Amino acid sequence: MPYEYELYARIAAMVAKPILIANWKMHPRARSDARQLFAATRKIAERSPGPVIVAPPSVYLSELASAYTGKKIQFAAQHAREGDIGAYTGEISMAQVKDAKARFVLVGHAERRAAGESDDDTRAQVGSALSLSLTPIICVGERVRSAGGEHFHFIRAQLRAAFGDVADGAVQKCLVAYEPIWAIGASEAMPPRQMHEMAIFIRKTLVELRGERAQNLKILYGGAVDESNARAMLAEGDVAGLLVGRVSTNAEEFAALIRSITTKQ
Ligand code: PGA
Repeated sequence: MPYEYELYARIAAMVAKPILIANWKMHPRARSDARQLFAATRKIAERSPGPVIVAPPSVYLSELASAYTGKKIQFAAQHAREGDIGAYTGEISMAQVKDAKARFVLVGHAERRAAGESDDDTRAQVGSALSLSLTPIICVGERVRSAGGEHFHFIRAQLRAAFGDVADGAVQKCLVAYEPIWAIGASEAMPPRQMHEMAIFIRKTLVELRGERAQNLKILYGGAVDESNARAMLAEGDVAGLLVGRVSTNAEEFAALIRSITTKQ
């Protein structure tokens, strides 16, 4: 297939069935609230054109995932350490995440990196996730932008590290979530045009590092996504989906976001 057609087909498919990741972070406060939020999310998700991946705190993950029998929602852990078991107080392992019926795991979220997670940690976690057939959602993003474009070097270094243990043929088994730290929890998302530029950069970098198959890598955007910007980001940002924080923990706002990407305009 000529490259342009392939590109258009890929973009059309991404826009038609975007992936939404609901990153609940450290919310909600109690198990009963988590059940309620999940019950609402489950209904809302039915109207989403693509899959919805819920990433609850790990104490709720197993219960929610075991009780769920539908097809629309998948589950992700917000973090896991590489391996099966070990003397690591306070940690959960990739194997435990898999056993809890999650199929995805966030790796290297900015809030984990701020708490001390290193590039080496992300590399080990990505390798471990893939070895257990979990899909790593590799989060990358710079703290600040500069006119000199240093952020591109920074993202390249994060990608190089995170994909360090990934075989060339497995690159497209990962998802990359680009989340500029300055947009996380902010009042405005990044403009879609800038995301488009970053998506091209990420793809080009991985093709350079790992070969042509990285062309099919799915890239998501995260940072202040809501009903006012989701549609434009999906249409113009060259992304396969959105990583949603705050708004995913408020059923009404999450419903509004999903409506905004489904209703014809
Ligand atoms: P936000 O968070 O939607 O609240 O900005 C996104 C994230 O950190 O994943």
